[in-house]
Amino acid sequence: MMRGPRLVLLGKQGAGKGTQALRLSEHYGTAHLSTGDLFRAAARAGTQAGLSAQRYMDVGELVPDEIVIGVVEELFADTKLVERGFVLDGFPRTLHQAEELDRVLGATPLDLVVNLDVPTEIALVRLAGRRVCEDCGTTYHVDLPPAVPWICDVCGGKVVQRDDDTESAILRRLELYERETLPIIQFYRRQQRLVVVAGNGPGAEVFERLVAAVDTFRELCGEP
Ligand code: AP5
Repeated sequence: MMRGPRLVLLGKQGAGKGTQALRLSEHYGTAHLSTGDLFRAAARAGTQAGLSAQRYMDVGELVPDEIVIGVVEELFADTKLVERGFVLDGFPRTLHQAEELDRVLGATPLDLVVNLDVPTEIALVRLAGRRVCEDCGTTYHVDLPPAVPWICDVCGGKVVQRDDDTESAILRRLELYERETLPIIQFYRRQQRLVVVAGNGPGAEVFERLVAAVDTFRELCGEP
């Protein structure tokens, strides 16, 4: 049996990384690791790391590398998680984070990095209408709400607008994406691990494209 892939999902804010990372992890039976979700959960739990991350997140700034890398290193100390495979969503986001990820994974490197590509105009519309469950993080959109208005279909939690989905924080996040995250695409292209998948169109179609890209790449590489 094929093992689950070790994937990174890159893409600008609103590209659909969170939405598709969840589906991909269910499809391949791997873990879904979102640094944004981890920080939001830590902030809700009131931990010091979470509250300190929240100060950066609310205004659209990146959480400092040393904090993020520490969190990821702790996650990957679990060798079973690495063996099972994972979809990383929101990490790495700077060149330094990408280099550190290679170091942390060592002899069990990434299989593939997918850049989910959407035009900024589409991403902005998606972010403006996004709503999330404050308990489990399930994502909705004002055009695709939960069955009972603003009660999560999955866990019954309250569905709200994210604190960093304000106009100023969205613009800052997109600016930082251009400056800090785009160079990573070149980094992975040089490693011959990068594929680009169009993220526009209905979610089910994007998912099909992603699975086709991942499966094709793994077959070509003769992955176990
Ligand atoms: P994070 O939670 O990762 O947020 P983000 O990067 O801003 O990305 P988004 O969640 O905005 O976009 P997405 O691509 O996941 O879109 P989604 O699937 O939700 O990070 C938040 C903050 O944490 C950062 O700003 C930073 O402060 C900090 N942080 C996290 N990681 C860090 C790191 N590594 N280093 C430093 N700081 C870090 O979709 C958006 C909307 O579109 C939803 O409403 C969805 O329903 C809808 N949608 C999705 N797909 C479709 C489709 N195909 N058609 C129509 N609508 C769709």
